[in-house]
Amino acid sequence: MIPTLEWTPAGVRFLDQTKLPLEETYLLATTPDEVATIITTMVVRGAPAIGVSAAMGLALAANSSTARTAAEFAESFATSCRLLADTRPTAVNLFWAIERMRRVFAGLLAAGASMDAVRSRLEAEARAMYEEDIAACRAMGAFGAELMPDEGTVLTHCNAGALATCGYGTALGVIRAAVERGKRIHVFADETRPFLQGARLTAWELMADNIPTTVLCDNMAASLMRQGRIQAVVVGADRIAANGDVANKIGTYGVAVLAREHGIPFYVAAPWSTIDPATPTGDAIPIEERAAVEVTHHGGRQLTPHGVGIRNPAFDVTPARYVTAIITERGLLRAPYLGSIAAGVSATQ
Ligand code: MRU
Repeated sequence: MIPTLEWTPAGVRFLDQTKLPLEETYLLATTPDEVATIITTMVVRGAPAIGVSAAMGLALAANSSTARTAAEFAESFATSCRLLADTRPTAVNLFWAIERMRRVFAGLLAAGASMDAVRSRLEAEARAMYEEDIAACRAMGAFGAELMPDEGTVLTHCNAGALATCGYGTALGVIRAAVERGKRIHVFADETRPFLQGARLTAWELMADNIPTTVLCDNMAASLMRQGRIQAVVVGADRIAANGDVANKIGTYGVAVLAREHGIPFYVAAPWSTIDPATPTGDAIPIEERAAVEVTHHGGRQLTPHGVGIRNPAFDVTPARYVTAIITERGLLRAPYLGSIAAGVSATQ
C-alpha cells in the first residue's frame, strides 16, 4: 500500500507529494509546527489525509510539550489546535479531526489523567483514526463498485486516491474496488491545473496498481464526453454541506455540469467526516485561495507576464442537483440530500 503518512516511533513520516511522480522521498515531522508546514505546502494533501495528519500533529504536540502543570499542558495543546486549524480552510476533515482530539484531551484532563496517560491516549486516538480511514475507504469502494460500468472509461478529477487518504482512496478506492471485482475500467485522469494532482498523483498511483490510465488536459473532457468516450465520473470531496452541495478541487463543478449535459452519472465518494451538517449550503463553505505562484510558474519556470492579475481559488462548489449519488462508508446517499444527510446524522446520535 502507498505509504502516504505513517506514525513511527521517531515521528510522523510523510511521502513528499510535491516531489511525485519523479522522486519518492519522505519527510519526518516531530512537532505540530512541522506538521502544519507539511499540510500548507501540500507535502500531504487530500481531505482525509489532512485530517489524520492534524490528529497525528496533535499527538506530537502532547508528546513534545514541556508543560509542568495541567493548565500549561492545556494551553500548549490549544495553541497547537489553532496552529493546525489555520493550515487549510476548506477540508472539513481537518476541523473534525482537531475537534475529536480536543475532546479526548479535555475529557482526560477533566478526569485527572496524568500527562503521560494523555500522551499515550492521544497517540492511540490518532492511530485509530488512521485505521478507520482505511476501513472507510474500503467500505466506500464496496458500495461504489456496484455503480461503475462493467467495462468502460471513468473520469476523475484531482487525486482522491491512496495519496489523499491513509490508503486505498475514496474516488480511486471505488475504481480500485470495481477493478478488484473484475470490472474492466480505464481511467481518464484530468490533469487538474494548477497543482496537477491528476497528472502527477492519480496517474502515478493508478499506474502502480496497473490500472489503465490516460491523462487529459482539463479542457479535453467535454469533447470526449460528446464522443461517448466517458461512461461515469467519480470524484472526492473536501466538504459536503447539509443540502448535498459538494466542495472539491477547482474544476469539479465544470465536470459535473458537462456530465449532466451528456447524461453521464456524476458520483462523489467521501467519508462521513467530510459531511458538514453545520454548513447549510455550498455558499457557506470557505474556499481556500492559494498563492499566485502556483498559477504563474510551473517547475520553477514563469509562464505568465510579470504583473498580470492572477486568481487561484483551490476549490469550487458543485450544487447537489448535479450529484447522482454520494458514496459513503455507510452506503449511498441519494437526492434529496437534505433528508438523506439529516437521516444519516441522526442515525449516529
Ligand atoms: O488541494 P488538494 O490536493 O488537497 O485537494 C484535494 C481534493 O480536492 C480531493 O478531491 C479531496 O480532498 C478529496 S480526497 C479523498
